[in-house]
Amino acid sequence: MEVTERIEGFVGEVSGLDLSKTVENNDAAAVRVAWARAPVLIFPDQALEPDSMLSFGSVFGEPQPEPPMNQTYLEEGADAVSYVGNINKDGSPYPFGNMRATAWHSDQSYLEEPVSGGILHALKMPSRGGGTLFCNMYAAYRALDLALRERLDQMIGLHGYNVGRRGETGPPLDEGKHGIWPTVRHPIVRTHPVTGRKALYVNPAHTFGIEGLDDDAALLNELLDHVEDEARFFYYHHWTVGDVVVWDQRCLMHRGAGDAPTDETRFLMRLKIAGDRPV
Ligand code: OGA
Ligand code: MN
Repeated sequence: MEVTERIEGFVGEVSGLDLSKTVENNDAAAVRVAWARAPVLIFPDQALEPDSMLSFGSVFGEPQPEPPMNQTYLEEGADAVSYVGNINKDGSPYPFGNMRATAWHSDQSYLEEPVSGGILHALKMPSRGGGTLFCNMYAAYRALDLALRERLDQMIGLHGYNVGRRGETGPPLDEGKHGIWPTVRHPIVRTHPVTGRKALYVNPAHTFGIEGLDDDAALLNELLDHVEDEARFFYYHHWTVGDVVVWDQRCLMHRGAGDAPTDETRFLMRLKIAGDRPV
């Protein structure tokens, strides 16, 4: 196995591993080290099935079923393995999939214990566009001036399902069917449990306020503008069919680029990895 750094401290590529087979312990340990250095890790040229996706996912932690709004599973029995795209698994069109997840977000920040990682595997891709963007929230934090960082270190953000200023791109919440999702509090600056480094933890899909601040909208908007508009924090992943990308939800935001022809098929297998309460 070989790791190549594509963008320093942000994006890496791993070759020489066949993820359809069991990843040996020493390789799994090396992959985790690589992931701590590069929170976006690309494994080109793979062919995963739901079972091998589950076993690959366990390299990073416990595979986690989706919350009720997101339960689009590929297979009974391997039912943490879901999918995203603009078709349903029977091949029928799913037009909402063209704009789904196209706002910057970190998955499940509206839960007490959001997932730590996400894995996508490209199965069908359009002839152009259809990428996924990642935003480095370590770098976004470091880029703020010291006085602001010190203030933010003490602050708590308020999160809820799709109630942020760009909260329209997740599947709609049907309270009768999906239950009620109360407000969740998370530190605005979280410390990564593995690297010990600080990252901003706000996103325009789910973060709607700052606790105990009278004019919270101004500061939150300033932070969201900072992370939504600065291309120097971004990586655009152009998918090639067969790519597997593992990303770290604790120090990144991500979004679908939403730039593909809507009459062409985009379809990816997906798995999420359980996480801890942000601190
Ligand atoms: C997701 C997601 C983005 C994409 O699956 O969590 O945000 O590019 N996907 O489909
Ligand atoms: Mn997502």
